[in-house]
Amino acid sequence: MARPSTPPLLFLSLSLFIFFFTFTLAAASQQFREAPEFYNSPECPSIFNDDDDDVHVHDSNTTVCSDHIVHVAMTLDAAYLRGSVAAILSVLQHSSCPQNIDFHFVTSASADTDYLRRTIANSFPYLRFHLYRIDDAAVSGLISTSIRAALDCPLNYARNYLANLLPLCVRRVVYLDSDLILVDDIAKLAATPLGNDAVLAAPEYCNANFTSYFTLTFWSNPALSLTFAGRKACYFNTGVMVIDLERWREGDYTTKIEEWMELQKRMRIYELGSLPPFLLVFAGNIAPVDHRWNQHGLGGDNFRGLCRDLHPGPVSLLHWSGKGKPWARLDANRPCPLDALWAPYDLLQTPFILDS
Ligand SMILES: *[C@@H]1O[C@H](CO)[C@@H](O)[C@H](O)[C@H]1NC(C)=O
Ligand SMILES: *[C@@H]1O[C@H](CO)[C@@H](O)[C@H](O)[C@H]1NC(C)=O
Repeated sequence: MARPSTPPLLFLSLSLFIFFFTFTLAAASQQFREAPEFYNSPECPSIFNDDDDDVHVHDSNTTVCSDHIVHVAMTLDAAYLRGSVAAILSVLQHSSCPQNIDFHFVTSASADTDYLRRTIANSFPYLRFHLYRIDDAAVSGLISTSIRAALDCPLNYARNYLANLLPLCVRRVVYLDSDLILVDDIAKLAATPLGNDAVLAAPEYCNANFTSYFTLTFWSNPALSLTFAGRKACYFNTGVMVIDLERWREGDYTTKIEEWMELQKRMRIYELGSLPPFLLVFAGNIAPVDHRWNQHGLGGDNFRGLCRDLHPGPVSLLHWSGKGKPWARLDANRPCPLDALWAPYDLLQTPFILDS
């Protein structure tokens, strides 16, 4: 049974070489395939021909301000680019009026914006999109470390600055995380009624233990815990939100969120990253969204990354929130069963696979 030891060693070093070669290639600059062009169905309202009051075409960046446009905001960075590209494709593919969608991408000022812009433009040559940069340094100064390092990057706080970044004529925006896909028309989500005074809408989870999102320091200090007095505060996930930017600006909610972040730096009132300040400012005062629009947690828990199943009920959006991401698990050949639903939206051009 004795076998010469050289072949396994050779095999091992060869595999290692291929592994690192592939890894380096993928990390250096990911190449993505071009998505097909998507067309409006005949029933779609025109974004150019409604009464002239609604249409203002600005500079050569052509920001079109029409109430018939669905505005989508996402972040873009090298680490999650593959997820963002898949998310964009899923939005377009399930939309009845894909040509009426504008994308607003927020990047950090330190990112290679040209590469990100080129990648999006190459994969989606017909997409109307805008790129905005946030000042990492200013945001970093406000961030305290959380239990998961990935939650601490400034870009994770971009959703707090949309009202400042996007053009004033954008009244409503749908914010989406990069680790999700839609399997339904985003126009339905964007049309969520916000009532007379809600600033944002998101699916609420009143069965979640709200207490656990804040520390004992918070709850034992009446001056702080009274924040939630008279509010039926429930947990909501900030990865999918419909935001009324006009109401946001009027209430200066960016500052309100930053004030809680300042406090967190002085005394630890919560453990997670960008979510708790949103709960502090908005929980109990948001408009509800059907749970089908955020089937969250598919990334597994924050500690062990176990596979999760869907929550009962219909599905319009799948969200791999949590530690594990479908692209990483697929690459590692250890996917969770539901990762198969993400794979069809993956536009990454893998090396070693010749594509015709
Ligand atoms: C687009 O707008 C940005 C900021 O408003 C400006 O800096 C940039 O030069 C514009 N791009 C083009 C092509 O006009
Ligand atoms: C909710 O969480 C808090 C703090 O983590 C805990 O003390 C409490 O027992 C939990 N309540 C329920 C009903 O599980």
